[in-house]
Amino acid sequence: MTPPKAHKVRATKGEKAAVARTLLVEHAAELLTIRGPRKPRVRETAADLGIVEDGAVYMEGDRIVDVGTASDVLSRRPRADVRIDAAGCVVMPGFVDAHTHAIFAGSREHEVEWKAQGLGYAEIAARGGGILSTVRATRDASEDELVRTGSERMRSMLSAGTTTLEVKTGYGLRTDDEVRMLRASARAASLAGVDVVPTFLGAHAIPPEYEGRPDAYADLVSGAMLDAVRATGLALFCDVFVDQGYFTPDQARRILGKAKAVGLQPKVHADELAETGGASLAAEIVAVSADHLLHASPEGIEAMARAGVIGVLLPATSLASRLPFADGRRLVAAGVPVALGTDFNPNCWCESLQLTAALACHHNGLVPAEAIVASTINAAHAVGRASDVGSLEPGKRADLLVLDIPSHRHLGYRIGGNVVRTVVKSGRVRVNAGSR
Ligand code: NIG
Ligand code: FE
Repeated sequence: MTPPKAHKVRATKGEKAAVARTLLVEHAAELLTIRGPRKPRVRETAADLGIVEDGAVYMEGDRIVDVGTASDVLSRRPRADVRIDAAGCVVMPGFVDAHTHAIFAGSREHEVEWKAQGLGYAEIAARGGGILSTVRATRDASEDELVRTGSERMRSMLSAGTTTLEVKTGYGLRTDDEVRMLRASARAASLAGVDVVPTFLGAHAIPPEYEGRPDAYADLVSGAMLDAVRATGLALFCDVFVDQGYFTPDQARRILGKAKAVGLQPKVHADELAETGGASLAAEIVAVSADHLLHASPEGIEAMARAGVIGVLLPATSLASRLPFADGRRLVAAGVPVALGTDFNPNCWCESLQLTAALACHHNGLVPAEAIVASTINAAHAVGRASDVGSLEPGKRADLLVLDIPSHRHLGYRIGGNVVRTVVKSGRVRVNAGSR
């Protein structure tokens, strides 16, 4: 992609952009406020971007203070330490990535050759690849190594516009290793300067020492492992991979029931490889989200809509594993709130929600406005952060993007580039075109 033109960030004398106390972004061709009801957006509200033409946002410290047309905002706030001219650009909230596995050791690039030969997810796992190969590498790595590689990935996500992301454990599968992953993800986030929402995914696979004894492993997860995780106070959510060859709805019911009892909110990896009742289970236990949903049944989708479970689409996984794409159109039509994630993991090395938005539009049946809502406010709801991020409204965190595109529709249209000119995170200019 052609690098965008140098971007005008004007700092007054003695101030550096990085330490601005007040910051004004002005004259956006389209300012996507995504303001609206304080609940996940469904049906027609799922495409309402709250667009202001020739818009401006005024920020103080790490908070948004004023949002509106440039003439209104400038009449109220004529001065700022730093001003960013966003003429010709789209300005929107920082992306929220609702689903990643960004902390792990090693990489699995050799599996691309197996994929090229036509091997599927289960065949790759049977050859010694897949999740368990990353579990071996992660158990062998030091915590510092997990922090270093994790923070590099998070920085790369930040330069593609992601300011908040969820990170799951699930490559330790032993109590100490799972807790180490939680610590590493918190340390990596603070090094990279992004916000991370931690999810415990001890039930990601059956570890080798429990081979053939999945119930015994599920007992460990719902017993000692969840107790230890809860004692750290480091996880907000608990997730289970409910699928063929992984965990059954019954095992997940036990694990997520215990998780709820100790204060962790449930999530489900649902119906990715086959329909095994993941979506229905998510509705039954009122999970915050059910993710993947490639093979979700119509009844499961209807039940999710009734229970208010957010459907998280992960189209980069369909791309990387040559799987079908979830029917996002059907989810929206059924009234399910839809969010988006990259599913960044060693099988799907995708840092960019710009790419997943384009995939969602080309393959999941979303329109660009729905993909943008899905990767901002609805993703924020899916990770429990909607009161702080996901829209540009006074009082919210000053996380925003200046994009080098003339209209929001280019987000669902362009495939594989990076249109981010500027990233403001907590009121600080963290990325601008010149620094990439
Ligand atoms: O969400 N589905 C389960 N977990 C990941 C893949 C993890 C891996 O292959 O390492 C996913 O796609
Ligand atoms: Fe996943």
